Amino acid sequence: MHKILKIAISMSTLGTFRFFFCNCNSYTAAVVDYLHTYADYPKELFKDNVKQYIQIMRNASRQYADIIVFPEYGLVDLFTLYSAVDKNSSELEQYSTYVPDPGQNIAPCEDSNYEKYEQHLVELSCAASIHGIYTIFNLPEKATNNETGEMEYYNTNVVLDRTGTVITKFRKINLSEEPFLKPGTEIVTFRTDFNVTFGIFTCFDLLFTYPALDILSNPDVTDIIFPTAWYSETPFLQGLSIQHGYARSKGINMLASALQEPYYSDGGSAIYLSDGSIAEAFVTNKRKSRILVQDVPIIKKRAISTCEKSNKTAPKRPVVQKEFTDIDNFPLNRDRTSGYIYELLGKRGKTLTRVCTVNEDFCCIFNISVDISSVSKPDYGYRIIIYKGLSPYGSGILGGIRVCALIACLNETEDSCGFRTNTSHKSTTFKSIEIQTTVDVTNDTHNQPSTLRADLMPITDYVYCETRISESKVRIKMAITSPQDGLVTFGIYGRVYSMDKTEKEKEQVSSTPSFEPEEEVLSLSIVLSIVCVSTLIILAIGSLLWKLHKS
Ligand SMILES: *[C@@H]1O[C@H](CO)[C@@H](O)[C@H](O)[C@H]1NC(C)=O
Ligand SMILES: *[C@@H]1O[C@H](CO)[C@@H](O)[C@H](O)[C@H]1NC(C)=O
Ligand SMILES: *[C@@H]1O[C@H](CO)[C@@H](O)[C@H](O)[C@H]1NC(C)=O
Ligand SMILES: *[C@@H]1O[C@H](CO)[C@@H](O)[C@H](O)[C@H]1NC(C)=O
Ligand SMILES: *[C@@H]1O[C@H](CO)[C@@H](O)[C@H](O)[C@H]1NC(C)=O
Ligand SMILES: *[C@@H]1O[C@H](CO)[C@@H](O)[C@H](O)[C@H]1NC(C)=O
Ligand SMILES: *[C@@H]1O[C@H](CO)[C@@H](O)[C@H](O)[C@H]1NC(C)=O
Ligand SMILES: *[C@@H]1O[C@H](CO)[C@@H](O)[C@H](O)[C@H]1NC(C)=O
Ligand SMILES: *[C@@H]1O[C@H](CO)[C@@H](O)[C@H](O)[C@H]1NC(C)=O
Ligand SMILES: *[C@@H]1O[C@H](CO)[C@@H](O)[C@H](O)[C@H]1NC(C)=O
Repeated sequence: MHKILKIAISMSTLGTFRFFFCNCNSYTAAVVDYLHTYADYPKELFKDNVKQYIQIMRNASRQYADIIVFPEYGLVDLFTLYSAVDKNSSELEQYSTYVPDPGQNIAPCEDSNYEKYEQHLVELSCAASIHGIYTIFNLPEKATNNETGEMEYYNTNVVLDRTGTVITKFRKINLSEEPFLKPGTEIVTFRTDFNVTFGIFTCFDLLFTYPALDILSNPDVTDIIFPTAWYSETPFLQGLSIQHGYARSKGINMLASALQEPYYSDGGSAIYLSDGSIAEAFVTNKRKSRILVQDVPIIKKRAISTCEKSNKTAPKRPVVQKEFTDIDNFPLNRDRTSGYIYELLGKRGKTLTRVCTVNEDFCCIFNISVDISSVSKPDYGYRIIIYKGLSPYGSGILGGIRVCALIACLNETEDSCGFRTNTSHKSTTFKSIEIQTTVDVTNDTHNQPSTLRADLMPITDYVYCETRISESKVRIKMAITSPQDGLVTFGIYGRVYSMDKTEKEKEQVSSTPSFEPEEEVLSLSIVLSIVCVSTLIILAIGSLLWKLHKS
């Protein structure tokens, strides 16, 4: 939108003016890759972080942002919550906030005289109103259950409009190692004065049908807001990779804001566009907050991902890190990859190779050609993998997945596959990669592309499509559209929700299906596996507190 018009509009508080008279074809989004500040007491913690939030909002408004998204656990971090609860479970209350019921249309800034709302909520509401910017932030919410009279706690995203009014709140549905919180039950959407209907959910929610797929049953939802604190793993669960795969497969715009904590493989924020391109993506090992501000074209309908090579050459937006991010030193864990079926790639690649799981209930076809001059010796750089089974998602939860992909390996052993590679490592160049699979049409599955480069960015130069080929079958196809090197992962990541199990359930079913790996391997990898929130965190709290006390 025209900047001058935008200033005029943001100076008026009449959102309706904008709604009726602004024929905008884009809006300006800001997402924050946020480095949290730790503090010993709740007052300090809120004060320090809110101060930073308000500075960041000022920066974003100078760049005419219409909406800004802060990450999950940005104001109050999970370490602090764990240690508070550890001291005395009633301590949790001091770190939690009453959030007014959206139906009441309350702007805490205006109600501040009555001291009804906590200082930090008032300040954020005032900042949203001063800068005229839609503001989304996450905090532990407290609410009194009006039937039992007991206090309940939620992981909540608060949505403020340009006047600082709470227009909606979303309570995270799929909690991950947040035992003192209660899961939310409601899917939430909201419409802005630039007439975009946003859906919103948090971190782990992305991996589950309710809310990640069910939210899209409302056809007006074209844009998704995603606050996250995601602990990345290779080859399939790196933050930016999984976000982009979701946005790309659903043809949506997506605003993803991540908590930055590289020590725990956490970080990776981006603005994804509905045409599959990435307006901007950022991940760093440098421990410094960063705002991403980009124009987002407004779409009336979600885009459909097609494998036709379109005539109009979409403006290519190469995804590049604009600054030194020290990405080779960003620590990453590897997802469990035992139980996978591995095939060597061979020097020239593979021509039409069909690979199936042991009981042939899932097959993929690969057609891969390699630029031979780029292959270094000895040749062990890549393998093809296929797997259908369970994958640990944080401790205690096993997600049903169905994947086929090309992944990088560090040496000639299968065990070395799926680790991230160093950006300066000379890598094979692929001239073409095409992966295809045909699966049953069911309402309990979801498929998305999964791509990752050594610099921890997803790639965008590929086509991905799902085509109904009969009443009961759908074909999924994915192919690069220009030569690629530095790949860590390229493939199709499918979720089979009906296979999901908790660890307890799995123990009860002692006669395990053949595709599952040995018990011992599995339980070990559960400890190693991290999504969103981890067992490692609990182990780390001790050392962290110790560090804090020393400093
Ligand atoms: C926990 O804190 C509450 C209020 O702050 C106090 O009444 C209670 O005695 C404490 N419990 C323990 C076990 O320290
Ligand atoms: C409790 O709150 C809910 C939602 O605000 C409301 O619908 C319900 O009527 C309330 N119940 C009681 C007993 O007040
Ligand atoms: C995720 O949330 C849905 C909806 O409440 C629930 O059915 C599912 O069991 C949850 N899964 C996990 C792992 O929390
Ligand atoms: C707002 O968007 C909705 C859904 O796309 C559309 O039906 C409606 O006409 C739009 N309203 C205006 C004022 O543009
Ligand atoms: C905000 O803007 C100031 C001045 O341009 C800059 O120094 C600072 O780094 C910015 N903060 C963030 C988090 O980008
Ligand atoms: C692309 O261009 C060709 C030749 O100009 C034309 O025949 C074809 O219909 C076009 N395809 C699309 C999708 O516009
Ligand atoms: C990446 O490779 C370069 C060159 O081989 C090496 O100097 C550097 O230490 C490596 N970095 C990491 C994090 O492995
Ligand atoms: C395999 O890929 C190559 C390179 O793109 C292409 O020339 C060939 O036609 C493909 N083979 C099949 C059977 O699709
Ligand atoms: C292969 O790489 C893996 C992972 O880095 C390492 O643990 C293993 O020792 C290596 N094996 C050989 C034979 O070099
Ligand atoms: C999914 O499909 C099954 C069987 O085809 C059906 O029983 C179930 O109601 C469907 N669920 C939804 C949410 O549509």
